[in-house]
Amino acid sequence: MCSVFGYIGKQYSRQLVMEGLSRLEYRGYDSAGFACLDPQSNHIVYSKASGDLQHLKDKLNQQSIDGYVSLGHTRWATHGGFSADNAHPHFDCEKNIALIHNGIIENHQELREELRAAGHVFHSETDTEVVAHLFEQELGRRDLSIELCSEIFSRLQGAYAFAIILEQYTNTMIVARKRSPLCVGVGKDELFVSSDPLAFIDKTRDVLFMPDESFALLSPSGIALYSFNGQSLSIATSSLDFSFEQQDKQQHEHFMLKEIYEQKAAIKNTLTHLQALSADLLWKQLGLKNEQVKDVEKITLLGCGTSWFAGRIAQFFFEEIAHISTQVSVASEFRYMSFFPRSNTLCIAITQSGETADTLEALRVVQSYGVHTIGLTNVASSTIVRETQGSLFTQAGCEVAVASTKAFVTQLTALYWLAHRLAMEKGLIELSDMQAAEQNLLIAAEALEECIEQNKLRIMQELAPYYATYKQYIFLGRHIGYPLAMEAALKLKEITYIFAQAYPAGELKHGPLALIDAQIPVVVFSHQAHIIYHKLVANVQEVKARDGHVIAFAFEGQQELISLADTVFIIPHVAPLLEPIAMIGLMQFFVYQMALVLDRPIDKPRNLAKSVTVE
Ligand code: G6P
Repeated sequence: MCSVFGYIGKQYSRQLVMEGLSRLEYRGYDSAGFACLDPQSNHIVYSKASGDLQHLKDKLNQQSIDGYVSLGHTRWATHGGFSADNAHPHFDCEKNIALIHNGIIENHQELREELRAAGHVFHSETDTEVVAHLFEQELGRRDLSIELCSEIFSRLQGAYAFAIILEQYTNTMIVARKRSPLCVGVGKDELFVSSDPLAFIDKTRDVLFMPDESFALLSPSGIALYSFNGQSLSIATSSLDFSFEQQDKQQHEHFMLKEIYEQKAAIKNTLTHLQALSADLLWKQLGLKNEQVKDVEKITLLGCGTSWFAGRIAQFFFEEIAHISTQVSVASEFRYMSFFPRSNTLCIAITQSGETADTLEALRVVQSYGVHTIGLTNVASSTIVRETQGSLFTQAGCEVAVASTKAFVTQLTALYWLAHRLAMEKGLIELSDMQAAEQNLLIAAEALEECIEQNKLRIMQELAPYYATYKQYIFLGRHIGYPLAMEAALKLKEITYIFAQAYPAGELKHGPLALIDAQIPVVVFSHQAHIIYHKLVANVQEVKARDGHVIAFAFEGQQELISLADTVFIIPHVAPLLEPIAMIGLMQFFVYQMALVLDRPIDKPRNLAKSVTVE
């Protein structure tokens, strides 16, 4: 996603802007740009480059531009292809105004036509550029004022975080936020503007998270904050207590591999963190009163991508363990669906980053019904924590690879644990059951690692080179194995670019069976429950009867499935409902090795970003 970074103060700032942008690398990008007010001439000077940040850094090394008021941006294309012209900053006709943006201006076409008719000339295909021309248009008629900003921002539809500098007002930076994240770090006679405080946390810990639909006029000595209707707002800064830790791959070739191996520890850390919460503290942190907890009638889970699949698996936790009817929605579709909350509904939004725009938007819809919302996230300083009534934190540590691994298993850990806590509160289980559940999570974490160790060499030497040659895959599962199959198919698509489709195994005969031949391997995730296992075996028979090729993840002793499969991975038994944790590490490792054979950029797959802050 686009990253916005700005500085206004007393230092030459190019280097710190570049450092800030490199910390926002996880958001993914295709081009980058830098602009500042030249202290001698007071003119805007800039540089842009297509490709990753290094291209911009190399270009800047040939230039001497620097200043006390500056903007830096990395772009993830939405409107217009990857090119230096479409890279930010964007300018007005005279290049007296420079701005950077994260988000989408939905009514840009209409504004572009209006501005073109007024004589403005555009230089990019982006939605962003209209805003520079809008400022130019208005500043041609009057001075910069609260009213002028208020009018312009109120006209923009969509989501945005902006930072704007102007030659005419050398001591001012305008920033604005609607939906997209934006914060201002407050230093001594200097301010830092960023999509994420991580970018400046070593410079200051005092941070103003811009309220939704607000703008501010920044100068080195302070912030004047206003709502979009022009009302002055008081400034409430938070003091953050995390630090930036340079991530390194240690001895691993990719972050993804390192993160696959960190899963056992991540599960343990998450569990230890949760166990330290007394009942009172837990319900308080979730924003719930004790009587509310006992009477939860319905749970709505929201998420995107891997977090959505964690929700799909957790549905079984809440329904089977806590006997609470649970609905799971992919967040990007939620706002188009009808929602029928019961009187005591809980909504849990699952998001590793806490910044996914689709998830945040869905959450806002849920809140409009007066439903209690909880964010399950890995990032304590993220937007979701500020927007929900309660939070629960996973302890996965920083996840760098775009394809989620350890964040996923810690989400499952937290949700499995929470289902047991709710069940205990409702009197469905005893403390001893809760303790057994905690122990079972650790056993599943152990199984995850053991499965990788036992199959490692076979996968690297034999299986990955062979299976990387196939062009498409089908993944099958039943019950909790179906969302696991969806997550497995997603992982394969993300990092190998091989097409994969997941089906509930029972659906095979209702259509996909037509695809079966020797060219499309079918990956089957088995289940420990006999009734489900036997049905799965029947589905595998159907595949084999049609010359299909089967890769099975089978549990110890499942002899029939083991002998039917062309390739089999044997999984040790774990507690019911923890099958996905036991199997996922091996699947991730297998897919990772296939991507390695195919020489894919595993940590940053093409077109994808770690944190998706546009809808
Ligand atoms: C992006 C990432 C996925 C992730 C999804 C949801 O699409 O590439 O790996 O699962 O966003 O992210 P979240 O931070 O909300 O869990």
